[in-house]
Amino acid sequence: MSKVHVFDHPLIQHKVALIRDINTSSKDFRELVREISLLMGFEVTRDLRLKPVEITTPIEKTTVNMLADEDLAIVPILRAGLGMVDGFLDLVPNAKVGFVGLYRDHETHLPVEYYCKLPDDIEKRQVVVLDPMLATGGSAAAAIQFVKDKGAKNISFACLIAAPEGIKVLQEAHPDVDIFVAAKDEKLNEDAYIVPGLGDAGDRIYGTK
Ligand code: PRP
Ligand code: URA
Repeated sequence: MSKVHVFDHPLIQHKVALIRDINTSSKDFRELVREISLLMGFEVTRDLRLKPVEITTPIEKTTVNMLADEDLAIVPILRAGLGMVDGFLDLVPNAKVGFVGLYRDHETHLPVEYYCKLPDDIEKRQVVVLDPMLATGGSAAAAIQFVKDKGAKNISFACLIAAPEGIKVLQEAHPDVDIFVAAKDEKLNEDAYIVPGLGDAGDRIYGTK
């Protein structure tokens, strides 16, 4: 069974508290999502592969560790996952970025795919699928299946807020995929929104509705 990492760092908890607040503007929400993603990314990327490289310091030649050539691919789930991309790119500027487009049908709550474009060498990379919200888990499970179908083997999932129901669904669908969450919430409501949550992440990032 996959591991679930819940972040207890005070900076992350403080920033998550701010994005939950209904009075936080879209501008501040976007900035905070980027900052939380960067802070989480530090831990999510802990297992990135290194390669030895010979360099010369002002004192002598030495061998140092640098990121392997094919290191990270991040795959945001459109559209809200886009909000997490820049925080990860701040940390790993050479990461490749793929996209999976999904939306939840408002009646059935099931994910509907409309786009998938991934890096050609995805099978060689550590892949982190990004979405701020893990609610029923349907979108994340489907997106991870697309990424696996394109050959990716080493995959993890990072989100800001997760419902216990979504964590269970994702662990059962993909027991090989570790899950990183900034906060684990109480439950889903009858509309499959996370409680207490933060509302619709895409709408809050982009100011729609
Ligand atoms: C939201 C969110 C996830 C999904 C989570 O996206 O960003 O992708 O819902 O719900 P689930 O775990 O029940 O599948 P939404 O469908 O609202 O699309 P959007 O990002 O385009 O707003
Ligand atoms: N998607 C969101 O954006 N928010 C929720 O609470 C659930 C799904």
